[in-house]
Amino acid sequence: MEQYVIKGGNPLTGEVEIGGAKNAALAIIAAAVMTDDTVRLSNVPDVRDVNVLLGAIEDIGAVVKRPEKHVVEINGSTIHRLSVDYDYIKRIRASYYLLGALLGKYHKAEVALPGGCDIGSRPIDLHIKGFRALGASVDISYGLISAHADRLVANHIYLDKVSVGATINILMAASLAEGKTVIDNCAREPHVVDVANFLNSMGADIRGAGTESIRINGVKHLHGTEYSVIPDMIEAGTFMCAVAATGGDVTIRNVIPKHLEATTAKLAEAGCQVVEYDDAVKVIAKGRLKHTQVATLPYPGFPTDMQPQMTVVLGIAEGTSVVTESIWENRFKYVDELARMGANIQVEGTIAIVNGVDHYTGARVQSPDLRAGAALVIAGLAADGITVVDDIYYIQRGYESFAEKLQGLGAQIEQVSSEHEIQKFKLKVS
Ligand code: EPZ
Repeated sequence: MEQYVIKGGNPLTGEVEIGGAKNAALAIIAAAVMTDDTVRLSNVPDVRDVNVLLGAIEDIGAVVKRPEKHVVEINGSTIHRLSVDYDYIKRIRASYYLLGALLGKYHKAEVALPGGCDIGSRPIDLHIKGFRALGASVDISYGLISAHADRLVANHIYLDKVSVGATINILMAASLAEGKTVIDNCAREPHVVDVANFLNSMGADIRGAGTESIRINGVKHLHGTEYSVIPDMIEAGTFMCAVAATGGDVTIRNVIPKHLEATTAKLAEAGCQVVEYDDAVKVIAKGRLKHTQVATLPYPGFPTDMQPQMTVVLGIAEGTSVVTESIWENRFKYVDELARMGANIQVEGTIAIVNGVDHYTGARVQSPDLRAGAALVIAGLAADGITVVDDIYYIQRGYESFAEKLQGLGAQIEQVSSEHEIQKFKLKVS
């Protein structure tokens, strides 16, 4: 088991480079098997979830090459099995994208019910509703979702709730359906747009991605392409919050500032200065930050995937902040851990009342999921003394070289794998 051990108190300074968006890359990798030609993807983050999905498509027969750390070449012409192993699925929720991709291309797919971070009940009824509307039969039995169709035929689909996964999954299957599909009440997240752009670069005909209504003219075949994944707005936002919590001054490069607007706005309300450049943002935090209100919403609202990191910032801001989580009902599990570092936060259902304390104090804490784990690291960077974050497996699902990037900004953080190494770090920094 690995841990991050952190000596807090250093304001972060300097420059950091953001990688490709994990959640865009996952959908794009699944969509890449929809052609028999080779697809070359760049700016693919080298994180665990991406590597698990690459393993899953290799396992069903696709050829995957990685000529460079962030470049992946995929050829789906050799796929010989349309059933994706439970071993892969239980580790990442995004494996459900293979349902849409394989159903679109082969009219048949079988995928185990997905796992992923435990942040609330994670239904997939809307994905299934979409596949059925396109003419597929979908069955769930023995933990497997099986979908098949003689023909996929376009339809008008209304999503009862805004869902990133359902929008993308239906988009993929509809790209190879007969006729014009319209999906209403779509997710507008930048990665939905990225997947649509990617599919269009393969010959799909998708319009309106980024709005609440997407129109897809089905095509017969998709072809090979070269495509670069968009920057990760959540990785960028995580560094922005780390700068805010530590009172630092950092330029965050390779970002699309527009995608960061909700995080930028909340950090500015809390008293940070955020300067936007073409493909970078600079965050400067001086003095004590102040309270504000945050409510998570689908894009362009404040992202749920930034909620724990922002709460950690507000936990040491002056006054009382209110944070409302409206996407996942179980996303405040880290608050108990944060309390062990001195936070004063009361959670009532989906609302957290955050009474800002003067400072956090180092403690041994456990990472309950990906974003909450990153948030606890931020708390450790801001805290007095030593923090050990256990179960960093979760963090590695979505952050590449997290400790190294933070070290580059002056943080005292190390990835360790034994109590002996923790003691060694303590001696070194004392
Ligand atoms: C994606 O999950 C992301 N995961 C999540 O990021 C992110 O938190 C979420 O979108 C919201 O932005 C990936 O992209 C791999 P949803 P997804 O379908 O697609 C309800 C991270 O930290 N819903 O948009 O699974 C659902 O319960 C991860 O990187 C249904 O009711 O989320 C939730 O309340 C964690 N029925 C809401 O919609 C459905 O069929 C939004 O979920 C599907 C969803």
